[in-house]
Amino acid sequence: MKNIYLGVLIVTGATMMATGYAKFASAGEWGKYQVDDRRSGITYATPETRAMQEDDVENPAMTYVDTGADLWKKVDGKAGKACTSCHNDAAKSMKAVGTVFPKFDPKLKKLKSLEQQINTCRTERMQAKPYKHESGKMLGMTIFVRHQSNGLPMNVSIDGPAVPFFNKGKEFYNARRGGLDMSCANCHVDNAGNRIRANLLSEGQSNGFPTYRFKWQKPGSIQRRFRGCNKNIRSTPYGYGSDEYVNLELYVAWRGRGLPVETPAVRN
Ligand code: HEC
Ligand code: HEC
Repeated sequence: MKNIYLGVLIVTGATMMATGYAKFASAGEWGKYQVDDRRSGITYATPETRAMQEDDVENPAMTYVDTGADLWKKVDGKAGKACTSCHNDAAKSMKAVGTVFPKFDPKLKKLKSLEQQINTCRTERMQAKPYKHESGKMLGMTIFVRHQSNGLPMNVSIDGPAVPFFNKGKEFYNARRGGLDMSCANCHVDNAGNRIRANLLSEGQSNGFPTYRFKWQKPGSIQRRFRGCNKNIRSTPYGYGSDEYVNLELYVAWRGRGLPVETPAVRN
């Protein structure tokens, strides 16, 4: 069965109505990009965008993988070390690492995002300056590290010490906020598959991040996306690396559990 989108989405202030909409494609139709009723954002993309993501030569963010690979080998900071000094071959040492972040850090007693882990290694282990969250270097390194997990299933831990942070992320996801009084779930759960203005709403999965966007003309982190989605409903975005967004990252990653890592993904 082909997926048909008849959805008409009307947004008037806080009211949304969806009509005549065929919800999910039949199980397995999207192959590796679908697990149970969860689908990667690539299945909502146009065929052109999809082809671009899947072709390493056409994918405009693959140059960031190269940037990260160069930085990985580069000595930086007062300790005279590079990432390779301790982690050697990233294809081995970083394999699957991108599937488990954010994760609980016993020293911080809270969650740590992948970006924060990279900066911990830079400041504490290399005595080098931290990268800025959306800088080309941070995006390059994050994309490079996550790319080593491509194809592996998203697999964050929400047990044990992660529980309270997971619950906070879940609460954030379901809380209405902003001038439009909407929650993340209003768009990405209730209306996945419907159109909102020119956009086809996806489930808002995070398995392709950092993701290249045509709109940005460069890749951006998952938290940049959170900020954009917050602004769209006229709610004040939180800062990069804020506890609120790291907790939210964990909840969103768990929603996409089992979906393959696809970094760097390509989106409109
Ligand atoms: C002096 C040794 C050292 C250097 C240099 C170093 N790291 Fe680390 N790294 C560690 C240790 C030890 C851990 C595990 C403990 C921790 O989280 O601090 C770790 C953990 C990590 C993890 C998490 C792995 C996991 O399984 O969760 C990532 C990602 C990482 N490092 C990336 C980097 C990057 C990127 C660089 C270069 C910018 C770098 N590291 C440089 C020692 C180092
Ligand atoms: C008014 C509707 C709306 C709300 C509310 C909203 N988003 Fe989005 N979001 C979008 C649109 C439109 C896009 C781009 C198309 C798509 O992938 O759905 C998007 C994209 C995303 C993506 C990228 C998906 C991908 O495959 O690259 C993520 C992740 C995301 N949103 C998370 C969130 C989170 C978390 C919240 C709550 C803080 C939120 N969104 C609230 C409309 C919304």
